[in-house]
Amino acid sequence: MGPIGVFDSGYGGLTVLKEIVAELPEYDYIYLGDNARAPYGNRGFDTIHAYTLECVQKLFDMGCPLVILACNTASAKALRTIQQKDLPRIAPDNRVLGVIRPTSEMVGTITQTGEVGILATNGTVSSESYPLEINKFFPHVITHQLACPMWVPLVENNEHEGAGADFFVKEYLGKILAQSANIDTLVLGCTHYPLLMKKIRQYLPGGITVLAQGKIVARSLKDYLKRHPEMESRLTKNQEHRFYTTDDPAIFNHMAEIFFGKEVASDKIDQD
Ligand code: DGL
Repeated sequence: MGPIGVFDSGYGGLTVLKEIVAELPEYDYIYLGDNARAPYGNRGFDTIHAYTLECVQKLFDMGCPLVILACNTASAKALRTIQQKDLPRIAPDNRVLGVIRPTSEMVGTITQTGEVGILATNGTVSSESYPLEINKFFPHVITHQLACPMWVPLVENNEHEGAGADFFVKEYLGKILAQSANIDTLVLGCTHYPLLMKKIRQYLPGGITVLAQGKIVARSLKDYLKRHPEMESRLTKNQEHRFYTTDDPAIFNHMAEIFFGKEVASDKIDQD
């Protein structure tokens, strides 16, 4: 038995963990941020897979039977290989879940026009995961995508409320909306982006719904645990939260508080 593991390349997954804890407060959680190697967004498939697998293994080693990849880039580039090839070999009874599928399941229920914009990292966009997943559930929904490579660095460097952020928020919103006048729903397909929500709303024309993933993923996890009592019974319930980073814990603690909304005390975990 053990905690639920939550993984992200850096701080973004804390926006998801926050909502998961609000929805499912009884469980124990271990968060792992691979801050030393973030951002993942522009890295290639093999690198993202290798880094993600290493971190998933660390969470397994710390006793987590279930790991959530609270990172779209890792979900897009590494999840399928981990589920199909790695898990049967390293931990056949454990499970790893991502964030793209639960988000895709929601999208078609929100859009009225049937045209949706996806804002994400280069890695997520080039994987085509969102169009593929969304069209599995909603074959008629038209998906427009845009990579926003400057948004994660702005957030990771705590510049998301600064003037530099205004420029890149306007730039990327303008570009995605220029793809079609019918887009009525925008998916923030990167767990870092909710930190930019204030500025996104400021520059977005009315009538467009912005979807952040935290609550969607939290509700989907709740549903998963209901449907999988064999996994639910393996989760410990002491309401303990532990945080690990591959970089400096003092820096992590300061930044993590902004993302998680609460004081965080982390420990360092070494990369392999
Ligand atoms: N937060 C991650 C995501 O959801 C990616 C950030 C990164 O580029 O490392 O895609």
